[in-house]
Amino acid sequence: MSDPQPVYLSDYQPPAYRVTHTELTFDLDPAATRVKARLLMERHPQADANAPLVLNGEHLKLISLAIDATSVDASAYALDDEGLRIAQVPERFVLESEVEIAPQDNTALEGLYQSNGMYCTQCEAEGFRRITFYPDRPDVMATFKVTVIGNQQHEPILLANGNPIERGELDGGRHFVTWEDPHPKPCYLFALVAGNLHSVEDHFTTMSGRNVTLQIWVEKENLDKTEHAMASLKRAMEWDEQAYGREYDLDLFMIVAVNDFNMGAMENKGLNIFNSAAVLTHPQTATDTAFQNVEGIVAHEYFHNWSGNRVTCRDWFQLSLKEGFTVFRDQCFSADTNSAPVKRIQDVSFFRTAQFAEDAGPTAHPIRPDHFIEITNFYTLTIYEKGAEVVRMIRNLVGEENFRRGSDLYFERFDGQAVTIEDFVGCMAEISGEDFSQFMRWYSQAGTPDIDAHGEYDYVHGEYHLTLRQRTPATPGQPDKLPLHIPVRMGLVGTKSGQDLTLTLNGEKIGKDAVIHLRDDEQTFVFTDVAEAPVPSLLREFSAPVKLHYPYSREDLAFLLTHDSDGFNRWDAGQRLALLALDDLIAAHRNGVEKVMDSRVVDAFKALLSGPMSDKAVLAEMLTLPSEAYIAEQQPIVDVDAIHAAREFVRQSLAVALRDEFLAIYEANVTEQQYAPTPEQIAQRSLKNVALSYLMSIEDEQGLALCEAQFSSDHNMTDVRQALTLLVHSDRDDLASPALKAFGEKWAHDPLVMDQWFTVQVSRPQADVLERVKYLMQHPAFSLKNPNRVRALVGAFAQNRVNFHRLDGQGYQLLADVVIELNRLNPEIAARLITPLTRWQRFDETRQALMRSELERIKQQPLSSNVYEVVEKALA
Ligand code: PHE
Ligand code: ZN
Repeated sequence: MSDPQPVYLSDYQPPAYRVTHTELTFDLDPAATRVKARLLMERHPQADANAPLVLNGEHLKLISLAIDATSVDASAYALDDEGLRIAQVPERFVLESEVEIAPQDNTALEGLYQSNGMYCTQCEAEGFRRITFYPDRPDVMATFKVTVIGNQQHEPILLANGNPIERGELDGGRHFVTWEDPHPKPCYLFALVAGNLHSVEDHFTTMSGRNVTLQIWVEKENLDKTEHAMASLKRAMEWDEQAYGREYDLDLFMIVAVNDFNMGAMENKGLNIFNSAAVLTHPQTATDTAFQNVEGIVAHEYFHNWSGNRVTCRDWFQLSLKEGFTVFRDQCFSADTNSAPVKRIQDVSFFRTAQFAEDAGPTAHPIRPDHFIEITNFYTLTIYEKGAEVVRMIRNLVGEENFRRGSDLYFERFDGQAVTIEDFVGCMAEISGEDFSQFMRWYSQAGTPDIDAHGEYDYVHGEYHLTLRQRTPATPGQPDKLPLHIPVRMGLVGTKSGQDLTLTLNGEKIGKDAVIHLRDDEQTFVFTDVAEAPVPSLLREFSAPVKLHYPYSREDLAFLLTHDSDGFNRWDAGQRLALLALDDLIAAHRNGVEKVMDSRVVDAFKALLSGPMSDKAVLAEMLTLPSEAYIAEQQPIVDVDAIHAAREFVRQSLAVALRDEFLAIYEANVTEQQYAPTPEQIAQRSLKNVALSYLMSIEDEQGLALCEAQFSSDHNMTDVRQALTLLVHSDRDDLASPALKAFGEKWAHDPLVMDQWFTVQVSRPQADVLERVKYLMQHPAFSLKNPNRVRALVGAFAQNRVNFHRLDGQGYQLLADVVIELNRLNPEIAARLITPLTRWQRFDETRQALMRSELERIKQQPLSSNVYEVVEKALA
């Protein structure tokens, strides 16, 4: 077998034939579903009259094929395992085919598959070719009419995109429903669901007064877990009208929850399909974080109705066109509905940990890649989150008003079309008159730019000289980088006044908080009329996705922590201060020297705890130390044990020094209020739970008692899960074991709660974790076929820094074993699971060798193209 080959952006050709209308009939059966397709097709006006018709098709058994009602002779077409090729076709024709597929055997969860006995589909990116022969590419857009035939008992509910137009009974206990979707769409947005489902229903009146029926379809026992998703949906619909002028365009909007799903959720037209974890919530089963995720994902999928569906992507290289923009939209929505500063802090904190690591590793790729082997490997943090950061920069460059006008123009001009990133940026350029030519490099250059900043205050002339130097490190296939256009939002905080100083640049007053533009490799900005020595506050609100290095002293950071007018940078100053202290402690640990806690960190925390407590949510973030993963990102060579030890030392030192303060915070934030996922309550709980985690880090007697009480009070999952985690991660197995047992028995019937039970156990720092993972993989609630279970158990274990990176290599071995098995069952999930092994360059030589040898072992297997592509890059 030859190695899988990449496709290239530069090879793009418009399709020779397009489909204008698609009619499908599904006769459902677990082992032998029949799919009939009737496609109205026509040749592209520019295409050669002799162009062959090439249709994608995989894992399909062809039953019959006809053009204009005449059966196509077997000698007139060529069939292989990628599709069908017909040498000669008319200019316009009707193509009819019938194929057979086996949903019950589909463990890849792409195409038509079964989940808990129900049928569902997943077609993005290239799953439709597992359903019927079709030009499976996003620039072929057709109207769809779909008839679904199923068993009345097993599949009382038959759903597809659009509106139901006909239904009826058939012989043999079967029935059908026909659906029509009037909006032309690419086939990746097709969806079908059939099963024994129940719905909650609500309504939304759009801005032009149209009444839309909203339905959430779930298994019966989950009907009480839909309220929050429904409320989120209505908020999202209203928000998109106000923020973007976008109105919903069908009479019906459906969400379906399925248990087996590779990703979070999918924006199929009018019929969004959700991983049950991304839609179901209940105070007793879901944490605040889960509630907020559901809100964000419901909104994200809904927003795709315009950014993705009405205006779609020309080809999959443009994926960030819809994903980056839609993530940006959902981030803004969540910021508007919750605490905006906390949303930004959480997003950036995640981004700097996970996307920076991706950008620095062997799979680094630009927001618009120029080639790929397997598109499912490109649903990445770079395409999604860095894509969103780039859209955010565009909004900040053109201003909010122009951004809205630019997006209006984009939606209006390209409605019903499949377009490119240039089309999007072009609208912004046209409206604002800004020049985006240098900015476009953000889309084609991979890697995270490093910015070295250096500032000097000139007392004599009252000037402040700020020099910024940018450099983007080489990434695979891109050795040389060009300078980017980097907007740096900043202020100068006066050390005497503690206030932002007015900025005068090139003789012009530009305000107290302004954006300067770095375009060259190096630039010096000279601020005049600077009356007092300032501390610079740079990259406010994380105005560009870069690593900013400035030689701040600890005094500078303590000052910014209390004086910076930008909430984000206040938080970041705290993180930087903690990182400096952690650096010393990591070094001390490595050198076997006694660890000494930096009193400035203690003082800073004390000030936070005793200061005015206006925003509890922000305070909870400020009291949270950088994660081990983020600390690791800052180290040249990751020493997992030293990082863990240093961070624990800081936690415990703070807990000892500020024990009474933490206790007071805890007690002040206990409430008997009925659970609600409101920003106020979430803030209180997170503050209380941060305090508890400090107390538990020193196994404080009172803290232990509070923790146990919080666990048994069983008030809501946020508190229960935090208490359980703290018990299980402590050394008090006498308390942890009964709690785990009680929890596991209570929730044995609920897979989403059992996922949390798995994760809590396999993320503890104690050395017995590897054995636990092996043991839990045999647990009846675990299955390798379910992506959520795999992520909760094996994925979570691979995030457990001290245990996954055991020096005997057994952690790596376990992961590789699972990858090898999953490669056969679900290549997409297998390829994602390898990620931690691909980061081998970051570790010491011993671990490097162990990780590489597991990658080599995987490589010896017969591999799916998904896993092949990742392993190949990781070992290159
Ligand atoms: N398009 C989906 C989203 O981000 C993600 C997805 C991709 C889901 C591929 C399934 C398969 O909203
Ligand atoms: Zn999306």
